[in-house]
Amino acid sequence: MTTLIINIKELLQVRETLISKVSGAEMAILPTIKNAFVVIKDNLIADFGSMDNFPKINADKTIDAGGKMVLPSWCDSHTHIVYAGNREQEFVDRINGFTYEEIANRGGGILNSAKKLNESTEEEIYDQSKARLEEIMRLGTGAVEIKSGYGLTVDGELKILRIIQRLAQNYPITIKATFLGAHAFPLEYKVNHQGYIDIIINQMLPEIAKNKLADFIDVFCENGYFTVLETEQIMEAGIRFGLKPKIHVNQFNSIGGIQAGIKYNALSVDHLEVMTTEDIITLKNTATMPVALPSCSYFLSIPYTPAREMITAGLPLALATDYNPGSTPSGNMNFVIATACIKMKMTPEEAINAATINGAYAMGISKTHGSITIGKKANLIITKSIPSYYQLPYAFGSNLIDTVLIEGKVFE
Ligand code: NIG
Ligand code: FE
Repeated sequence: MTTLIINIKELLQVRETLISKVSGAEMAILPTIKNAFVVIKDNLIADFGSMDNFPKINADKTIDAGGKMVLPSWCDSHTHIVYAGNREQEFVDRINGFTYEEIANRGGGILNSAKKLNESTEEEIYDQSKARLEEIMRLGTGAVEIKSGYGLTVDGELKILRIIQRLAQNYPITIKATFLGAHAFPLEYKVNHQGYIDIIINQMLPEIAKNKLADFIDVFCENGYFTVLETEQIMEAGIRFGLKPKIHVNQFNSIGGIQAGIKYNALSVDHLEVMTTEDIITLKNTATMPVALPSCSYFLSIPYTPAREMITAGLPLALATDYNPGSTPSGNMNFVIATACIKMKMTPEEAINAATINGAYAMGISKTHGSITIGKKANLIITKSIPSYYQLPYAFGSNLIDTVLIEGKVFE
């Protein structure tokens, strides 16, 4: 099956050779080709270039993109979309003056979602989760990482990971699974932390590894959740079971989570709303991708990741949604890009790099995703007719996506 996209006004994120990520000043460069074409063979990008060099090809399908932009699909490297119900009441409680921390301390927050999840059937949660997955695919996401972490019991965590596996089998979007049993301590382990950590290490991890249910291991390293030492213990166990760490750090406090992540060669460290100069220096010249989640800052009214300082220091940065019921009930990468430009002063070029190639890196898939490169997956966004790609962050809140292709096929 050969598909042609022709008369593309501008083809974005064109990379002739494989790169794994962009850092520092390179993030300001977004290579493009004006008046371009793309050839798709089956599910892969087979060729691309300027219409001036358009090859004579017999195609099964031709899409005339006159006036439209084409770019690689968003790579959303941090979500928690397998959950039950919602936390609307906590949202209203926060409007009325309670903080996220206060709500969590009185049994709301993650424990509230865990209760709902453990009371729901696998089928009910699958149905709710697939609706969220379809929604983000229509919003242009072509690869996504999904975490467990709302079970906090052996059964609950395995249930979530099985649902993620089933979503990956039933949908063309690339899905990476992360085990986040260390998301919060269940009430009965509020004092006996080691008791719960032992369950994670001795009961959850062996089952997960045996059934190949996860690619990565995550820990919420934060005051009131998992300490740095507990985080290290869990990362070490995860690594023993073949899972690379990707961890939640520095959301509310800088307590040494970044240093722990680097020590265990984490693929990414995510959130980073509160960063010290030392944290930024620690990340330099490492293989760990810093990931910012601006919709979470927006929804919780907490600081934004200091993108400018980090990029100026030469770091790479990825952008992701954090789609979850408590801190970010939104999976819209278009909003993430706009918010990164508006609130974090990232340029459109930096934001698009952060949401494509660097997002792919943060999922370990930059060989196959995140740029227009021959041999990569034909996961593409065709925009509506727009004057320039600046519109993507500028016209925040507008839906500028015309067509989404995943594995070379239009996703309706
Ligand atoms: O990434 N910070 C920890 N976990 C999620 C939110 C959890 C929740 O409130 O349900 C996050 O923001
Ligand atoms: Fe998260």
